Amino acid sequence: MIPINNQSVTATLPGKLMLMGEHAAVYGFPCLAAAVDKKLTVKLNKRTDGNIIIRSDYFKKTLQSDWQKITGKIEPAGQYLTAALRTVSALISDKTGMDMEIKSDFSGRYGLGSSAAVTAGAIAGIAALFGLNLSKEELFKLTYRSILTVAEDASGYDAAAVVFGGVIYYKKGDSKPEKIDAYPNLLVCYSGSKADTVEMVRMVAGKMNSHRKAVLKIFEATADLVEQARQSLISQQYDIFGKLMNFSQDYLEDLGVVTSKLNELILKARKAGALGAKISGAGGGDCLIALVDDSNSPKVAQALIEAGGEMVDTAITSKEVSIS
Ligand code: MEV
Repeated sequence: MIPINNQSVTATLPGKLMLMGEHAAVYGFPCLAAAVDKKLTVKLNKRTDGNIIIRSDYFKKTLQSDWQKITGKIEPAGQYLTAALRTVSALISDKTGMDMEIKSDFSGRYGLGSSAAVTAGAIAGIAALFGLNLSKEELFKLTYRSILTVAEDASGYDAAAVVFGGVIYYKKGDSKPEKIDAYPNLLVCYSGSKADTVEMVRMVAGKMNSHRKAVLKIFEATADLVEQARQSLISQQYDIFGKLMNFSQDYLEDLGVVTSKLNELILKARKAGALGAKISGAGGGDCLIALVDDSNSPKVAQALIEAGGEMVDTAITSKEVSIS
C-alpha cells in the first residue's frame, strides 16, 4: 500500500463472515471466510500537541490515549485499538499526536468483524499517516499479532478477510490467504443474542481437553468439507457448496456451539428453500448464513423474519483494506 504521509488519512475496511471451518480454524485446520460490504473507516489527522484523541461509535465518550495505553474505561473495541497502537508505535520514530475518528456501518453486536477491522484500520491508517509503507502481508501480520495479544487463540481469519477482501481459504499460520473468485449469494441473519467468541473458544478447548479424540474427529471431518467447499466455490457449483454448509452445520451441532434459536432459524431457512444454512462464527449467538438464489431469496428472508431473526443487509465483496 502507498505511504501517504499527509496531515490527514482515512483507512477503509470491509466486514467479515466465516463461511466454514469455525473452531477447527483455531487448531490450525483450514477455513473459508469472506469480506462483506459493510464498512468501517478510521480517519486520522495529525496533531502538534502530542495528544491522541479518539472518537468512535464504539465508545460512549471521547478517549484520550498515548502510544501505549488508552486511558479510562474502555469497551472491548478499545482493547484492540490499544493493541494496534502498541504494535505500530514500535515501527514509527516521528510520533506526534493525532485525532482518530472511527465510524462504522456495522454494529459490533453482529460479530461481523469490527475488532479485526478496527485493529487493521488503526495500523494501516497510522502507518500511512506517518509515511510507513506496509504491504498487505505486513499489515496482516501486524494486525494478527495485535489481535493475539487480546485473544490468544484467535486463528486470524478475520484479519485475513478484512485485509485481503473477497472469499478466502486460510489456515492459521499462513502469511496470506488464498483468494477465491466466487460470490455465493448469502443471506445473513442475526439470531438476536450476542456471542462471546472468547468464551465459546474456551468451551471448545475444554471439550478438546476432556474428549480430544472425538473433537479431533469432528475437526478432521470439517477440514475435509472445507477442502470440498473450496473446490465447489472455485468451480462455482453453489448447490454443492450449500450441501456442504449443511454437513458442516451438523458437525458444529455435535461440537455443542449451536443455540436452539440458531438451530430453529437454520431449519426454517432450509425449509423455505435455502440451498444450505449454518452458523457463521463461534456460535452461541450472533449470525447464521443461508445460501440462496434469486428465486428463493425473498421466501427464505421472510421465513427468517417470521421466526424472529433480524436480516443484516450485506453481501460478499471483493473490497479489501484501502487508504485515501
Ligand atoms: C469466530 O468467528 C471463529 C472461531 O473459529 C475463532 C477463530 O477462528 O479465531 C471460533
